[in-house]
Amino acid sequence: MGALEGRVAFITGGARGQGRAHALALAAEGANVVIADAPRPMNLTYPLGTEDDLLATAKEVEELGAVCLPITLDVRDGAAVSAAIDETVSSLGSLDILVANAGVVSTGRLDEVTDETWHQLVDTNLTGVFHTLRAAIPVMRRQRFGRIVVTSSMGGRMGIPELAPYNATKWGVIGLAKSVALEVAKEGITVNVICPTTVHTPMVQPVGVDGVPDEFVRRMMKANPIPQPWIEAEDVSRGLLYLVTDSGVITGSVLEIALGGSARLH
Ligand SMILES: NC(=O)c1ccc[n+]([C@@H]2O[C@H](COP(=O)([O-])OP(=O)(O)OC[C@H]3O[C@@H](n4cnc5c(N)ncnc54)[C@H](O)[C@@H]3O)[C@@H](O)[C@H]2O)c1
Repeated sequence: MGALEGRVAFITGGARGQGRAHALALAAEGANVVIADAPRPMNLTYPLGTEDDLLATAKEVEELGAVCLPITLDVRDGAAVSAAIDETVSSLGSLDILVANAGVVSTGRLDEVTDETWHQLVDTNLTGVFHTLRAAIPVMRRQRFGRIVVTSSMGGRMGIPELAPYNATKWGVIGLAKSVALEVAKEGITVNVICPTTVHTPMVQPVGVDGVPDEFVRRMMKANPIPQPWIEAEDVSRGLLYLVTDSGVITGSVLEIALGGSARLH
Protein backbone atom coordinates (compact mmCIF):
# COMPACT_ATOMS: atom_id res chain seq x y z
CA MET A 1 0.00 0.00 0.00
CA GLY A 2 1.31 3.44 -0.95
CA ALA A 3 2.08 6.18 1.57
CA LEU A 4 -0.68 8.39 0.14
CA GLU A 5 -3.53 5.89 -0.21
CA GLY A 6 -6.87 7.72 0.01
CA ARG A 7 -5.33 11.19 -0.29
CA VAL A 8 -6.40 13.75 -2.89
CA ALA A 9 -3.79 16.04 -4.45
CA PHE A 10 -4.33 19.22 -6.50
CA ILE A 11 -1.43 20.32 -8.71
CA THR A 12 -1.35 23.58 -10.66
CA GLY A 13 0.74 23.48 -13.81
CA GLY A 14 0.13 19.72 -13.77
CA ALA A 15 -0.04 19.14 -17.52
CA ARG A 16 3.68 18.74 -18.12
CA GLY A 17 7.17 19.26 -16.72
CA GLN A 18 7.52 19.13 -12.95
CA GLY A 19 3.74 19.17 -12.40
CA ARG A 20 3.37 16.04 -14.52
CA ALA A 21 6.21 14.28 -12.67
CA HIS A 22 4.59 15.24 -9.34
CA ALA A 23 1.21 13.88 -10.48
CA LEU A 24 2.80 10.54 -11.41
CA ALA A 25 4.84 10.36 -8.19
CA LEU A 26 1.83 11.08 -5.97
CA ALA A 27 -0.37 8.64 -7.90
CA ALA A 28 2.32 5.95 -7.59
CA GLU A 29 1.96 6.35 -3.81
CA GLY A 30 -1.81 5.88 -4.03
CA ALA A 31 -3.15 9.45 -4.23
CA ASN A 32 -5.92 10.54 -6.56
CA VAL A 33 -4.85 13.62 -8.45
CA VAL A 34 -6.30 16.81 -9.95
CA ILE A 35 -4.11 18.45 -12.56
CA ALA A 36 -4.94 22.06 -13.42
CA ASP A 37 -3.31 23.79 -16.39
CA ALA A 38 -3.79 25.11 -19.96
CA PRO A 39 -3.95 28.85 -19.15
CA ARG A 40 -5.01 31.65 -21.48
CA PRO A 41 -2.23 32.53 -23.95
CA MET A 42 0.68 34.68 -22.79
CA ASN A 43 3.29 36.61 -24.67
CA LEU A 44 6.39 34.52 -23.83
CA THR A 45 9.27 33.02 -25.82
CA TYR A 46 7.98 29.45 -25.28
CA PRO A 47 4.55 27.78 -25.45
CA LEU A 48 2.58 26.87 -22.32
CA GLY A 49 0.87 23.61 -21.43
CA THR A 50 -2.22 22.72 -23.47
CA GLU A 51 -5.44 20.78 -22.99
CA ASP A 52 -3.85 17.96 -25.00
CA ASP A 53 -0.95 17.89 -22.52
CA LEU A 54 -3.47 17.78 -19.65
CA LEU A 55 -5.31 14.83 -21.19
CA ALA A 56 -2.09 12.95 -21.99
CA THR A 57 -0.86 13.35 -18.41
CA ALA A 58 -4.26 12.36 -17.01
CA LYS A 59 -4.07 9.14 -19.04
CA GLU A 60 -0.61 8.34 -17.67
CA VAL A 61 -1.79 8.97 -14.11
CA GLU A 62 -4.81 6.73 -14.59
CA GLU A 63 -2.57 3.98 -15.94
CA LEU A 64 -1.07 3.87 -12.44
CA GLY A 65 -4.50 3.00 -11.08
CA ALA A 66 -5.33 6.45 -9.70
CA VAL A 67 -8.31 8.67 -10.41
CA CYS A 68 -7.18 11.78 -12.31
CA LEU A 69 -9.31 14.87 -12.89
CA PRO A 70 -7.85 17.27 -15.48
CA ILE A 71 -9.12 20.85 -15.11
CA THR A 72 -8.52 23.67 -17.58
CA LEU A 73 -7.46 26.55 -15.33
CA ASP A 74 -5.58 29.83 -15.37
CA VAL A 75 -4.31 30.55 -11.86
CA ARG A 76 -4.44 34.28 -12.62
CA ASP A 77 -8.24 34.00 -12.31
CA GLY A 78 -9.06 33.79 -8.58
CA ALA A 79 -12.72 32.85 -9.06
CA ALA A 80 -11.76 30.03 -11.42
CA VAL A 81 -9.21 28.71 -8.91
CA SER A 82 -11.87 28.67 -6.17
CA ALA A 83 -14.28 26.86 -8.50
CA ALA A 84 -11.58 24.26 -9.31
CA ILE A 85 -10.97 23.60 -5.61
CA ASP A 86 -14.74 23.22 -5.06
CA GLU A 87 -14.92 20.80 -8.00
CA THR A 88 -12.04 18.79 -6.50
CA VAL A 89 -13.82 18.34 -3.19
CA SER A 90 -17.20 17.57 -4.74
CA SER A 91 -15.73 15.05 -7.22
CA LEU A 92 -13.00 13.38 -5.14
CA GLY A 93 -14.19 13.96 -1.58
CA SER A 94 -11.34 15.95 -0.02
CA LEU A 95 -8.25 18.06 -0.68
CA ASP A 96 -5.25 16.80 1.25
CA ILE A 97 -2.22 17.86 -0.79
CA LEU A 98 -1.81 21.11 -2.69
CA VAL A 99 1.13 21.69 -5.03
CA ALA A 100 1.25 25.33 -6.16
CA ASN A 101 3.59 24.71 -9.06
CA ALA A 102 2.30 26.72 -12.05
CA GLY A 103 4.84 29.30 -13.16
CA VAL A 104 6.25 31.18 -16.11
CA VAL A 105 9.66 32.68 -16.83
CA SER A 106 11.01 35.50 -18.93
CA THR A 107 14.59 36.72 -19.18
CA GLY A 108 16.04 40.12 -19.96
CA ARG A 109 17.56 43.23 -18.41
CA LEU A 110 15.22 45.09 -16.09
CA ASP A 111 15.17 48.22 -18.24
CA GLU A 112 13.85 46.09 -21.11
CA VAL A 113 11.02 44.45 -19.14
CA THR A 114 7.59 45.53 -20.40
CA ASP A 115 4.55 46.04 -18.18
CA GLU A 116 2.97 43.05 -19.91
CA THR A 117 5.88 40.74 -19.01
CA TRP A 118 5.98 42.01 -15.42
CA HIS A 119 2.24 41.37 -14.98
CA GLN A 120 2.34 37.92 -16.60
CA LEU A 121 5.02 36.82 -14.14
CA VAL A 122 3.61 38.46 -11.02
CA ASP A 123 0.01 37.47 -11.81
CA THR A 124 0.94 33.80 -12.36
CA ASN A 125 3.90 33.12 -10.08
CA LEU A 126 2.85 35.19 -7.08
CA THR A 127 -0.85 36.12 -7.31
CA GLY A 128 -1.63 32.65 -8.74
CA VAL A 129 -0.09 31.01 -5.67
CA PHE A 130 -2.05 33.39 -3.44
CA HIS A 131 -5.29 32.44 -5.24
CA THR A 132 -4.50 28.73 -4.87
CA LEU A 133 -3.60 28.79 -1.17
CA ARG A 134 -6.51 31.10 -0.30
CA ALA A 135 -8.98 28.70 -1.91
CA ALA A 136 -7.47 25.52 -0.43
CA ILE A 137 -6.89 26.52 3.18
CA PRO A 138 -10.56 26.66 4.31
CA VAL A 139 -11.04 23.09 3.04
CA MET A 140 -7.89 21.84 4.78
CA ARG A 141 -8.87 23.73 7.93
CA ARG A 142 -12.22 21.89 8.05
CA GLN A 143 -10.38 18.59 7.59
CA ARG A 144 -7.71 19.60 10.13
CA PHE A 145 -5.24 18.17 7.64
CA GLY A 146 -3.28 19.57 4.73
CA ARG A 147 0.12 19.37 3.09
CA ILE A 148 0.92 22.39 0.93
CA VAL A 149 4.06 22.72 -1.18
CA VAL A 150 4.84 25.86 -3.16
CA THR A 151 7.34 25.74 -6.02
CA SER A 152 9.79 28.62 -5.81
CA SER A 153 13.26 28.37 -7.38
CA MET A 154 16.92 28.93 -6.56
CA GLY A 155 16.06 32.30 -8.12
CA GLY A 156 14.10 32.87 -4.90
CA ARG A 157 17.27 32.41 -2.83
CA MET A 158 19.64 34.80 -4.58
CA GLY A 159 19.85 37.59 -7.14
CA ILE A 160 20.43 36.57 -10.77
CA PRO A 161 20.93 39.16 -13.50
CA GLU A 162 18.33 39.22 -16.28
CA LEU A 163 15.83 37.35 -14.12
CA ALA A 164 14.69 40.19 -11.84
CA PRO A 165 10.88 39.93 -12.28
CA TYR A 166 11.00 36.10 -12.06
CA ASN A 167 13.20 36.16 -9.00
CA ALA A 168 11.03 38.83 -7.34
CA THR A 169 8.04 36.47 -7.65
CA LYS A 170 10.03 33.48 -6.41
CA TRP A 171 11.30 35.40 -3.34
CA GLY A 172 7.71 36.57 -2.86
CA VAL A 173 6.17 33.11 -2.65
CA ILE A 174 8.66 32.13 0.06
CA GLY A 175 7.45 35.04 2.21
CA LEU A 176 3.86 34.08 1.45
CA ALA A 177 4.39 30.42 2.33
CA LYS A 178 6.31 31.08 5.56
CA SER A 179 3.67 33.53 6.80
CA VAL A 180 0.79 31.20 5.98
CA ALA A 181 2.68 28.30 7.61
CA LEU A 182 2.49 30.21 10.89
CA GLU A 183 -1.21 31.05 10.42
CA VAL A 184 -2.17 27.36 10.05
CA ALA A 185 0.45 25.73 12.28
CA LYS A 186 -2.08 24.70 14.94
CA GLU A 187 -4.53 23.23 12.43
CA GLY A 188 -2.78 20.17 11.04
CA ILE A 189 -1.69 21.98 7.89
CA THR A 190 1.93 22.28 6.79
CA VAL A 191 3.22 24.75 4.20
CA ASN A 192 6.68 24.26 2.71
CA VAL A 193 8.62 25.47 -0.29
CA ILE A 194 10.71 23.68 -2.89
CA CYS A 195 13.51 25.55 -4.64
CA PRO A 196 14.85 23.65 -7.64
CA THR A 197 17.86 24.70 -9.63
CA THR A 198 17.44 24.48 -13.42
CA VAL A 199 15.15 21.55 -14.27
CA HIS A 200 15.07 19.86 -17.65
CA THR A 201 11.45 20.69 -18.59
CA PRO A 202 9.74 22.43 -21.54
CA MET A 203 10.36 25.76 -19.75
CA VAL A 204 14.07 25.26 -20.45
CA GLN A 205 13.86 23.15 -23.59
CA PRO A 206 10.59 23.85 -25.43
CA VAL A 207 9.07 20.82 -27.15
CA GLY A 208 10.21 20.59 -30.77
CA VAL A 209 13.39 22.56 -30.09
CA ASP A 210 16.37 20.27 -30.56
CA GLY A 211 18.87 20.50 -27.75
CA VAL A 212 19.71 23.36 -25.43
CA PRO A 213 22.39 25.80 -26.66
CA ASP A 214 25.92 24.57 -25.77
CA GLU A 215 26.71 27.93 -24.22
CA PHE A 216 23.78 27.56 -21.77
CA VAL A 217 24.82 24.01 -20.87
CA ARG A 218 28.42 25.16 -20.26
CA ARG A 219 27.24 28.06 -18.10
CA MET A 220 25.01 25.78 -16.01
CA MET A 221 27.76 23.15 -15.58
CA LYS A 222 30.07 25.87 -14.29
CA ALA A 223 27.47 27.38 -11.96
CA ASN A 224 26.66 24.12 -10.15
CA PRO A 225 29.06 22.63 -7.56
CA ILE A 226 27.85 19.19 -8.66
CA PRO A 227 28.87 19.43 -12.31
CA GLN A 228 25.57 18.72 -14.06
CA PRO A 229 23.75 21.31 -16.16
CA TRP A 230 20.35 20.61 -14.59
CA ILE A 231 18.22 18.17 -12.64
CA GLU A 232 15.26 16.12 -13.87
CA ALA A 233 11.66 16.74 -12.81
CA GLU A 234 11.68 13.40 -10.96
CA ASP A 235 14.47 14.72 -8.71
CA VAL A 236 12.10 17.46 -7.59
CA SER A 237 9.24 14.99 -7.11
CA ARG A 238 11.31 13.05 -4.56
CA GLY A 239 11.65 16.24 -2.49
CA LEU A 240 7.94 16.87 -2.84
CA LEU A 241 7.12 13.35 -1.63
CA TYR A 242 9.31 13.85 1.42
CA LEU A 243 7.37 16.98 2.37
CA VAL A 244 3.86 15.63 1.74
CA THR A 245 4.41 12.33 3.55
CA ASP A 246 5.83 14.05 6.63
CA SER A 247 3.97 13.38 9.88
CA GLY A 248 3.25 17.08 10.26
CA VAL A 249 6.38 18.39 11.96
CA ILE A 250 8.04 20.11 9.00
CA THR A 251 6.50 23.46 8.12
CA GLY A 252 7.76 26.84 6.98
CA SER A 253 10.79 25.09 5.49
CA VAL A 254 12.54 25.72 2.21
CA LEU A 255 13.97 22.65 0.51
CA GLU A 256 16.61 23.43 -2.09
CA ILE A 257 17.15 20.77 -4.74
CA ALA A 258 20.06 22.46 -6.32
CA LEU A 259 23.18 20.45 -7.25
CA GLY A 260 25.05 21.99 -4.31
CA GLY A 261 23.91 25.58 -4.85
CA SER A 262 22.58 25.53 -1.26
CA ALA A 263 26.15 25.40 0.01
CA ARG A 264 26.79 28.85 -1.39
CA LEU A 265 23.84 30.56 0.31
CA HIS A 266 24.36 32.60 3.48
N1 LIG B 1 12.48 24.50 -15.22
C1 LIG B 1 13.27 25.13 -14.37
O1 LIG B 1 14.47 25.30 -14.61
C2 LIG B 1 12.74 25.62 -13.06
C3 LIG B 1 13.63 25.87 -12.01
C4 LIG B 1 13.16 26.30 -10.79
C5 LIG B 1 11.80 26.49 -10.61
N2 LIG B 1 10.94 26.26 -11.65
C6 LIG B 1 9.52 26.44 -11.40
O2 LIG B 1 8.92 25.17 -11.42
C7 LIG B 1 7.53 25.29 -11.77
C8 LIG B 1 7.19 24.29 -12.86
O3 LIG B 1 7.90 24.63 -14.04
P1 LIG B 1 8.41 23.57 -15.10
O4 LIG B 1 9.87 23.55 -15.02
O5 LIG B 1 7.67 22.30 -14.96
O6 LIG B 1 8.03 24.33 -16.46
P2 LIG B 1 6.89 24.05 -17.54
O7 LIG B 1 6.79 25.31 -18.33
O8 LIG B 1 7.15 22.79 -18.25
O9 LIG B 1 5.56 23.81 -16.68
C9 LIG B 1 4.84 24.86 -16.08
C10 LIG B 1 3.37 24.59 -16.27
O10 LIG B 1 2.65 25.65 -15.63
C11 LIG B 1 1.58 26.01 -16.47
N3 LIG B 1 1.18 27.39 -16.23
C12 LIG B 1 1.89 28.51 -16.48
N4 LIG B 1 1.15 29.59 -16.19
C13 LIG B 1 -0.05 29.14 -15.76
C14 LIG B 1 -1.24 29.79 -15.33
N5 LIG B 1 -1.35 31.12 -15.29
N6 LIG B 1 -2.27 29.01 -14.93
C15 LIG B 1 -2.18 27.66 -14.98
N7 LIG B 1 -1.09 26.99 -15.39
C16 LIG B 1 -0.04 27.74 -15.78
C17 LIG B 1 2.15 25.85 -17.88
O11 LIG B 1 1.11 25.76 -18.84
C18 LIG B 1 2.99 24.60 -17.76
O12 LIG B 1 2.29 23.45 -18.11
C19 LIG B 1 7.34 26.75 -12.16
O13 LIG B 1 6.80 27.45 -11.06
C20 LIG B 1 8.75 27.22 -12.43
O14 LIG B 1 8.88 28.61 -12.26
C21 LIG B 1 11.37 25.81 -12.86
